[in-house]
Amino acid sequence: MNKRQIGTTALFVNEIGYGSMNLSIDRKQRPSQSDAIALLQRAVDEYGVEFIDTADAYALGEDDMGYCERLIAGALQGERRERVVVATKGGFTRPGGAWKPDGRPEYLRRACEKSLAALGTDRIDLYQLHRPDPAVPIEESIGALVDLQREGKIRHIGVSNVSLEQLKTAMGVTEISSIQNPLSFPFYDESRGTLLTFCEEHGITYIAYAPVGGHRNASMLAEFDEWIAENIDAAGIPVHQLALAWLLRLSPATLPIPATTNPGHLARNMRAGDIPLASDDVEKLKHARSWRNDVEEALAAGDLEKEIAAMRKGLSFAPESGVIWYDLSCALIKAGRLTEGFDALESAIGNGFNHLEHVRSDEDFAAVRDEPRFQAALDRMAAIS
Ligand SMILES: NC(=O)c1ccc[n+]([C@@H]2O[C@H](COP(=O)([O-])OP(=O)(O)OC[C@H]3O[C@@H](n4cnc5c(N)ncnc54)[C@H](OP(=O)(O)O)[C@@H]3O)[C@@H](O)[C@H]2O)c1
Repeated sequence: MNKRQIGTTALFVNEIGYGSMNLSIDRKQRPSQSDAIALLQRAVDEYGVEFIDTADAYALGEDDMGYCERLIAGALQGERRERVVVATKGGFTRPGGAWKPDGRPEYLRRACEKSLAALGTDRIDLYQLHRPDPAVPIEESIGALVDLQREGKIRHIGVSNVSLEQLKTAMGVTEISSIQNPLSFPFYDESRGTLLTFCEEHGITYIAYAPVGGHRNASMLAEFDEWIAENIDAAGIPVHQLALAWLLRLSPATLPIPATTNPGHLARNMRAGDIPLASDDVEKLKHARSWRNDVEEALAAGDLEKEIAAMRKGLSFAPESGVIWYDLSCALIKAGRLTEGFDALESAIGNGFNHLEHVRSDEDFAAVRDEPRFQAALDRMAAIS
């Protein structure tokens, strides 16, 4: 397996990393601690994982913070620990299971110190600001990380969920070794392309999260099977592996971090670099057509019925996607189809959608705030959060 450098640091890791979020954030799907530890150990020993991404917030809620970091510390005792770069993140709190940014310097300091304890280390290889806090200038958040770096608690600094402008501002404060943003062929667009080119030009690693379609939505990649069979030379390769091969060929700056709890998937993911993918195919995959393109066209044309039809098509590929059910419920309610809209919202919740704060503030639901079914949906969401 080929290696990738983290930024311009002395850290070189196998070109496919491992994202650990799915070991922790979903009460129903969380593997047992012993299964998770066994999987992490196999990932390192058998499949050559050398980069593991985690976060203090990969937990069920505030009183569970650091859960995933503690799992990793438990799995990587002794010599194994020396073979792996562990990257963690701070800057999110999890009140009631929600995701709330907190980028205040004093908070980040406390979060980093807790991460050091959870990871059982005195220095974190790569510490990433999980998301810029809209209430705190990013310079201040990064300044706190620079102080922690000076104290020897952080080796390198990364940022996550940033725009190009935010990245440039962070770079004005200190050396940024990595960004961590979503990147996969179904979600490729010009702004992600521009960000990636900027990273290449400035020696910054683009850690690609959601590289095989994203948490809970990965099965949706199957929607591309037909398109790939018709358009791509490497047809016949499982689409998730192809998605990872695409990221590796797209740029030397990418570092995909697929998440899996399935050892068979892990084995396949780690071999993605062996897949030959012609540069023509890399270009073509940037424009692979999906039901999402139909959603975008419908949105641009303000055609709600077309938007609803496109989302139903998406659900035919991923009926378990809470996010699509949620978007569909918004569109149906906007279209005045309240019963169907509430049914879709129920399906979203049934499939694990629990972004209570988001739903409460969503303008699409303004007209139905007082409806008993909407209030009941909020109660159910609160119960699963
Ligand atoms: N910075 C951030 O804000 C942020 C946000 C999201 C994620 N992340 C990081 O990025 C990592 C990955 O992102 P993600 O979990 O959202 O998305 P992802 O890796 O694209 O998708 C994970 C899903 O893909 C499935 N999968 C993985 N390999 C597969 C294969 N070969 N065949 C079929 N299905 C496969 C997994 O199911 P199985 O378990 O069944 O394989 C899982 O449901 C996370 O673990 C986390 O470390 C960071």
